[in-house]
Amino acid sequence: MMRNREQKERTWILPALLAVLLCGACNRKTLSIFFDVPPPPPTPTATPAPPETAAGGGAPGIGGAAWAPTPTPTPPAIEKTLAWSEARPQLPLDALGEVAWDTALREGVIRPRKDVGKPARDDDFLFGFDFFFPGPDPLFDAFFPHSVHTRWLACSSCHPAIFPVRGTRFSMADVAAGEYCGRCHGKVAFPLSSGCSKCHTKVPAFKSHTPRSKGVYGDIEFTAHDQTAPVPPAYFPHWLHRIRFRCSACHPDTFEMRKGANPIKMTEIQKGRYCGKCHNGSVAFAVAFDTCYRCHKPAQERE
Ligand code: HEC
Ligand code: HEC
Ligand code: HEC
Ligand code: HEC
Ligand code: HEC
Ligand code: HEC
Repeated sequence: MMRNREQKERTWILPALLAVLLCGACNRKTLSIFFDVPPPPPTPTATPAPPETAAGGGAPGIGGAAWAPTPTPTPPAIEKTLAWSEARPQLPLDALGEVAWDTALREGVIRPRKDVGKPARDDDFLFGFDFFFPGPDPLFDAFFPHSVHTRWLACSSCHPAIFPVRGTRFSMADVAAGEYCGRCHGKVAFPLSSGCSKCHTKVPAFKSHTPRSKGVYGDIEFTAHDQTAPVPPAYFPHWLHRIRFRCSACHPDTFEMRKGANPIKMTEIQKGRYCGKCHNGSVAFAVAFDTCYRCHKPAQERE
């Protein structure tokens, strides 16, 4: 009798162990006993998961109906304008009055394409592993939503260029000096000064005392321009391009993500490289004598 019970116990221990292991596949904590897994997700209050991401919308699934190319939808209304003064009122703002770019994307105000020549698809790939960088005090832990970033960027923009290994340690001073998160934040992504509580989500939201930006940050001035040339230096408005394209359409393959790092010349553009990937008359206006000024526009004439 006794022996029989022991045997019975042994027979269900194995399946139970298997079940625990299998269940581990959906449980980070259990998995971490066996494997090197990413840190745990943050509290749900930080950035609410966009509703459309869970089910993947109406995107064709593996094993579903035969795949058919999604017809290119008409571009959103905001793409009709080339002036920031007209675009800004169409974009959602965050609590601090800055453009909430990720909200704009999720709400469909903008529909930036992932690459040139491919139709816009709404099946955002989200790498759902969001975590906190530990701060010196838990209050100053910094929230890093991988998911938000993979909606915009290619993995290769950050790995290994900015974050090669796990467990990188850095401080706010490094970020403010333009390294790590500061490679994008404070340049093209939301400004550091008014965005403290977007990263430090455990600090109660507060109104910034610094004057809010005009919202049009990230314009690139090509200062390496030959000053003896008959045209002023070219400029590149990030906002105008990012309402049409994700960062991954340009970075890191077409442009290295550092100001001045790309040796752009007109001869290269005309061969279809750099700006010429699009400014060829099919994706965007072509280089021609009546378009020089659109890229080589003096600062005071830009809207
Ligand atoms: C883009 C995200 C981001 C923004 C915006 C940001 N921080 Fe940080 N901050 C970090 C990261 C990452 C760290 C390093 C890990 C940690 O200590 O949490 C950090 C660290 C800190 C620390 C810990 C001590 C130190 O010097 O490293 C303080 C304090 C801090 N930030 C204050 C601020 C304030 C004040 C603002 C607004 C002016 C701000 N941060 C904006 C990401 C950000
Ligand atoms: C905006 C920058 C950024 C982008 C884009 C990005 N990551 Fe990360 N990733 C990070 C940061 C920051 C960490 C934490 C690094 C650390 O702790 O030092 C990280 C960590 C990881 C880790 C954990 C590494 C480990 O050893 O556990 C994996 C895996 C990972 N990323 C995969 C990806 C994949 C796959 C993509 C594209 C779908 C991607 N990342 C896109 C910034 C990024
Ligand atoms: C390669 C560029 C890049 C790097 C590096 C990067 N970010 Fe971001 N981040 C973005 C972009 C683009 C967005 C979308 C919102 C925007 O553009 O303002 C974003 C959004 C965010 C958001 C969400 C804001 C929202 O609207 O929900 C947080 C929080 C954030 N980043 C924190 C960080 C932290 C912390 C780091 C460093 C560990 C970091 N980011 C590094 C580009 C970057
Ligand atoms: C249409 C192409 C295009 C798109 C889309 C684009 N960029 Fe850029 N980006 C550029 C060009 C061009 C430069 C300037 C490179 C140079 O100076 O050599 C640049 C430069 C940068 C820099 C360096 C800025 C500095 O001051 O050092 C960062 C950071 C950056 N981009 C981030 C982003 C992020 C984040 C996104 C998406 C939200 C994005 N870019 C979307 C073309 C693009
Ligand atoms: C799609 C944007 C774009 C258009 C259109 C454009 N350029 Fe450029 N041009 C650039 C960029 C980017 C550079 C490299 C940065 C710089 O030197 O300002 C550049 C550089 C130059 C230079 C510096 C030396 C060289 O050869 O690269 C000259 C001169 C020049 N352009 C003349 C022109 C003329 C003339 C036209 C009209 C026929 C024109 N560009 C149209 C983007 C453009
Ligand atoms: C991924 C495609 C892509 C790349 C790469 C690209 N552009 Fe554009 N650009 C566009 C599109 C699309 C427009 C909107 C106008 C249109 O449809 O012709 C535009 C518009 C512009 C405008 C606004 C013109 C105006 O009249 O207001 C400027 C300036 C500009 N681009 C400069 C550049 C420069 C400089 C580069 C290279 C450093 C560049 N672009 C690279 C796609 C691109």
